[in-house]
Parts: sequence; C-alpha cells; structure tokens
Amino acid sequence: MKDSLLNYEKIISAAALAKQYHVVFQGTDDVPYNGKTISLNGRELKNFGNCDYMGLQHDPRIKTAAMEALEKYGLMLCNSRAYTYNPLHDVLDEKLEKIMGYPTVATRCTSYGSLSAIPMLVGANDVIIADYNVHSSVQMAAALAMAQGTKMIKLEHNDMTQLEEKIIELQEKHDKIWYFFDSVYSMMGDHAPFDDINELLNRYEQFHAYCDDAWGISWTGQNGRGLALKEGVLHPKMIIVGSLTKGFGAGGGGYMTFHNEIHRNLIRDLGGLQIFSAPLTNPNLAAAIACADIHLNDEIYQLQDDFTSRLQTFRDTAISLGIPMSNDKLSPINYILIGNAEATMYITEKVKRAGFYINIAVYPLVSNRMSGMRILVTNYLSHEDIKQLLYVIAESMQEAFVKFDMPAQKQNIKQVLV
Ligand SMILES: Cc1ncc(COP(=O)(O)O)c(C=O)c1O
Repeated sequence: MKDSLLNYEKIISAAALAKQYHVVFQGTDDVPYNGKTISLNGRELKNFGNCDYMGLQHDPRIKTAAMEALEKYGLMLCNSRAYTYNPLHDVLDEKLEKIMGYPTVATRCTSYGSLSAIPMLVGANDVIIADYNVHSSVQMAAALAMAQGTKMIKLEHNDMTQLEEKIIELQEKHDKIWYFFDSVYSMMGDHAPFDDINELLNRYEQFHAYCDDAWGISWTGQNGRGLALKEGVLHPKMIIVGSLTKGFGAGGGGYMTFHNEIHRNLIRDLGGLQIFSAPLTNPNLAAAIACADIHLNDEIYQLQDDFTSRLQTFRDTAISLGIPMSNDKLSPINYILIGNAEATMYITEKVKRAGFYINIAVYPLVSNRMSGMRILVTNYLSHEDIKQLLYVIAESMQEAFVKFDMPAQKQNIKQVLV
C-alpha cells in the first residue's frame, strides 16, 4: 500500500511538470480534423501523434459507409449481443477472416478482446510469463486470470534466454506456460523476436503465446494482416489480438485471430465483454467493413509502400543528423531516447512552438532513464514534413543538452544547416 501511494505521488508530480510544459492533457480546438494537422490554442501543428498511420480514416468511402449505416440503423442496436446482433457483425468477421487467413472475430476494442479471451483461455493451473513491456490492456486481462488463481511472472523485455529458462523451470508444476507479448511495443516501437518465439513454441509442448499485434496491422503482410502474420502462418499455439483503431482506419474496434474455430467461436459467443458489454456501434461496423474492403484490394500495397518509404525517410534523416534511433527496425512508432524527463518535455515544447505536434514518453509510461519522444509518422505527412520535423528536433536537442547539462548526448547531434 505504501509503495503504491509513493508511485502515485511520482506519477502526479511527473504529470504536473508535463502540464507546465503544455505537452499533455491538451484539448484540441473545435475545428474539423484532416489527419495531417491538429489545432491547439489557435495554432495549426503538423500532427506527428496520430495513430491512423495508413491515412485511411479520412477516406471518403469509409466516412460514407459510416454515415449510411448511421442513417439506416441509428447509432447502435441496443440489444444484448448474445441474443441479437446487427448483421454487419457477420460481414465484418468474414472479411477479417479473409484478411487474416484464420478464424477471426471483431471485438469492441483491443482491450475488450484481451479481457474477454484471457480469463477464458488461461487455466488456474497455467502460468503466465508477461514481457515487462507488454501493453497494459494485456496486463489487466492477466490480472483477471490471476484472480482465478493463475500465477503470473514478469520477464525482462524480449529476453528469450530467460524465457527458455523459465519454461524449463515451470513445466513440471503447470499445465500450460503462456508468454504474453506485443508484436510492436507501443512506447518504443521495437519488435518482438518472432523467430525465437516460434522456435520455443515448436520445442516445448506446454508453451503457448498470446500476441498483441495492435501496431502490426495494415502496414505489413499480405492484405495488411499484420506483423504477427507477416509470413502468413499462425502457430497453432499462438493467439493474436489486434486493433482496428490505428492503421486499419476504422476509428474503433479490435479483433482476435485463432488457429481454430473452436476457440474463435468460444470467445465470439461466450467471451465476457463480447456478451455483457456494448457491441460495436453501427457506423463503426460499417466503417470497419469499408476498411476491410480496402485491405482486400491491391490498393493496400500502395499504401504500405507509401508508409514504409516515409518511415525510411524518417530513419535516414534521423541517422544523418546524429539523432539516436532506439530501434533498428522500421516501425510505426519512432522513438528518440533522451534519458531525462524534463529535457524531453523541453524539446517537445520547443518542437511544438516550431509547428509540430509529437508525444512525450516519460514515467510512468517508461522508466525515467528511458524518457524520450514518441513520434508517429503517417501517410498524411509528406517526406518534407518529416525532414523539417527532424531538423527542428536536432536543433532543440542541442539546446536541451546544454540547458540540462548533458554534454555526452550533445556531442552526437550534428549542427543543422537549414
Ligand atoms: C499495443 C496496444 N494494445 C492495446 C491497446 C488498446 O487498444 P484499444 O483502445 O483498442 O483497446 C493499445 C492502445 O493504444 C496498444 O497500443
């Protein structure tokens, strides 16, 4: 109890400082959104905090589908889904299944998928090994399993040696050993070591995996089926939860993909939040179907190329400026490690003054020494926007490293000549 009070004190003071720098809790101005810019306090900023990375949400086909469904059905069929549901649910599930290549069900959001599935699929005598950085929604769902008696331990981030040691240590005492992880980690954008995880799944019969692919969808794989399914094969002992809110462009919703129909049907028909919480709204279902059609069309490959070429521009420019990229792979989340929370806020605020909106990542989102800027590239932004942002960041980092007495970091950043 004492510890948790202390943590809250730390969180409150971090939030207060971030508020002072005007880099959190900012209501946007009441102006139309376009994906590319965001308006804060009367100033239009290039939006590098937008999760809609493929640039789909403003596609007229998706908006029209949502508006037509609103007109036809109203906002929501307010019946319990276990009794009756809008037929668009079946259409969406079928299309998602075509994209993923395996039995799939749509959920109201990613978190609801995990909260519905994990307590049902994980047994009291199973054990969960959760990657230290796995998304909070998965950890919350794991807590529900723990309430039923399942044991959970945390694993150093992406440490496959430790994971194998744990599997060996735990296999005598437990039925199944689950590894909970993200495909793309949502703060720093680094990827899971899929080859190693698949090898462990092959080697140890009791070993199972639960993957949150919220940030893998759309930009990778055939029909944008995501990073976890990039190679097109789902290991029979792996379950995937993902998001329709981010790259997919539906502005809400999630999905779960299983190797077999039995598990999919179980979660679809009996998963907790699937049946006792609200269904997806009708406009949201129609928007998701329109997004699925774009994924099932060759158009998705052009969008993937547009997006990855922007990520490459980001990476190449950052490296040429001596800006440290904390990730060696292309990722929708670009992380610039600063290592000092206040310096991070200072840079973010400077960047904002120069006309760019980016996100901070400080305690409790990451540990203090991992403080940094989290930058989301989207197809709404041009290659030139990306370069301009990075020039401003490099300049602001130079200033911050002097102000906050960080000479070692300053050395790496190149003088920007623009
Ligand atoms: C990796 C990851 N999983 C799950 C979620 C939660 O998504 P949802 O809002 O669909 O519940 C997020 C949210 O950003 C996320 O980044």
